[in-house]
Amino acid sequence: MRNLSVKKAVIPAAGLGTRFLPATKAIPKEMLPIVDTPTLQYIVKEAVDSGIEQILIITNQNKHCMENHFDTDFELEARLRASGKDAEADMINEIADMANIFYIRQKEPKGLGHAILCAQPFIGNEPFAVLLGDDIMVNRGGKPALRQLMEAYDDRKSTVVGVQQVDPAQTNKYGIVSPSASAPRKGRLVKLSGMVEKPEPADAPSNLAAYGRYVLAPAIFDYLESQTAGKGGEIQLTDAICRLMEREAVYAYDMEGERYDAGDKFGFIRATIDFALERDEIRPKLAEYIKKLAETL
Ligand code: G1P
Repeated sequence: MRNLSVKKAVIPAAGLGTRFLPATKAIPKEMLPIVDTPTLQYIVKEAVDSGIEQILIITNQNKHCMENHFDTDFELEARLRASGKDAEADMINEIADMANIFYIRQKEPKGLGHAILCAQPFIGNEPFAVLLGDDIMVNRGGKPALRQLMEAYDDRKSTVVGVQQVDPAQTNKYGIVSPSASAPRKGRLVKLSGMVEKPEPADAPSNLAAYGRYVLAPAIFDYLESQTAGKGGEIQLTDAICRLMEREAVYAYDMEGERYDAGDKFGFIRATIDFALERDEIRPKLAEYIKKLAETL
């Protein structure tokens, strides 16, 4: 794999998970499994498959189990091996070896922009990736979504926001970008003139929505530091990216792949069904069940 300039990624995982209560009372939403794998592990894997070497997870005080998940567990491994379950022992070992993972706590839930600002000491003065845990991106047989943005960053040496088209009625759920009227679109890449957090459909500058993947130039920290609260009373990454455009170019990249909104109940169930259908050991039974069920609906 070609060496790219982006080596570090930030995964904000300090949200309260209110959409998944009561499950998230004691379990972070990032640890809810899709089939048998926590959402967070899919996100970490995408980063690793994209060539990221170091990952910083932004957590809060209730998220110890994330650290345990990506750590070695000698006792469990020894027990599995003693009972002949070598494949399972190898699997839990592989998770611990997946990546170099660091953790930092966001002390107050002040929004995504504030969470990213907490990463500044870890990032320093380099471009970096951001992956949001609610958005699982799958590009079957192709390059991971984040890798596409990392390559676009190296091409332009500028911030790149990963986007896809959404139903125009849904713009109030996303950061929506405003493509520049003067700069021509180049393949999947388009220069931006603005970005707005969750606009109502009538006010939306386009239907290109930020889908939880970004490669940010380090100058973003200057804007996050001075960013005042925006939509929902939170410090929004979208607002800081919009201000960054006054100083340097920012692009949107129309990512190839399918997005699952794992932060939404329907999106989570859809991911569970699709991912289960991709497993040889589950597919026959599940396909048969779905066909029978469909006859009754
Ligand atoms: C966040 C961002 C938003 C982005 C979305 C993608 O919103 O603020 O710009 O479009 O993630 O999932 P949230 O869904 O956390 O409210």
